[in-house]
Amino acid sequence: MNKVIYEKGLDISYEKILRDYLRTGQKKDLYQIEKFSKELMKEGIGPEVIVEIHLKAIRKINKNKSTYSRKTIDESFTFLMEGIINYEIACQEYLASSEADYLVKIRDLNQKLSEKLAENYLGVVRALISALELKNSYTRGHSESVTRYAVALAKKLKLSPEEIESIEVAAVLHDIGKIGVQESILNKPGKLNDEEWGEMKQHPEFSYRILKEVNFPWDVKPIIYAHHERYDGKGYPAGLKGREIPLGARIIAVADTFAAMTSDRAYRKGLSKEAAIEELKRVAGAQLDPELVGVFVEILRSDKERL
Ligand SMILES: [Fe+2]
Repeated sequence: MNKVIYEKGLDISYEKILRDYLRTGQKKDLYQIEKFSKELMKEGIGPEVIVEIHLKAIRKINKNKSTYSRKTIDESFTFLMEGIINYEIACQEYLASSEADYLVKIRDLNQKLSEKLAENYLGVVRALISALELKNSYTRGHSESVTRYAVALAKKLKLSPEEIESIEVAAVLHDIGKIGVQESILNKPGKLNDEEWGEMKQHPEFSYRILKEVNFPWDVKPIIYAHHERYDGKGYPAGLKGREIPLGARIIAVADTFAAMTSDRAYRKGLSKEAAIEELKRVAGAQLDPELVGVFVEILRSDKERL
């Protein structure tokens, strides 16, 4: 209620200032218009509200649209805008003079914004994963295990918090491209034929294409693209070899292989932890990075790390 009265008061006082100028056409009345908008800006009233007040007053005063000329009305508007602009300039000068304070405020705002952005991105990640889970029930637990193993390995390697975060997001999303693979292939109990396998092998590229549209703050795309490369260069899609494969992708390959070996599938029972460790050692140097396998086996065997 108060706001309405307040705005009404403003409308009336501006109408009076504008009427004075339109009647006299004198410069001193134009300065009153400029002063008016500057004062309102100082009180925190936004430029769009000030312009609205001006338009309302013009509509009221110049009802039959021919009482005052376009040029006179335009000039009143120019001075109204000058008040707004001059106030903005004065503010910027003040901010520049207290730069330290200004920078602290900006940094604070930036921090809040990036937190908000990260939250939004995680929302995108969750939405993508639930879309995939609808299609392939195996994925849910699998992504979770791969993420847990990959993060444990990245931490053991003492990677930076940023690298660990990238690997975590990449691990959650590594198979997102399976959205582009037919459901009958994804859920087929048993071995895939050549044609089906050919389609399945496209999923890292599908992942890359899906994520290309999302400008994540983490460098996850190269990791996800390369998660099926092999240490001996016989993997896909690019046939990268050894350290050509991004570290994050080599880490996820170890985690992914272990998670796949130890989980139950419709057509076979998962391996025990010990049998899976033996299998990891067997493929180290061919499929997987041998150093990473060594560190991962250490984690699996240590009593403290319960994976
Ligand atoms: Fe995959």
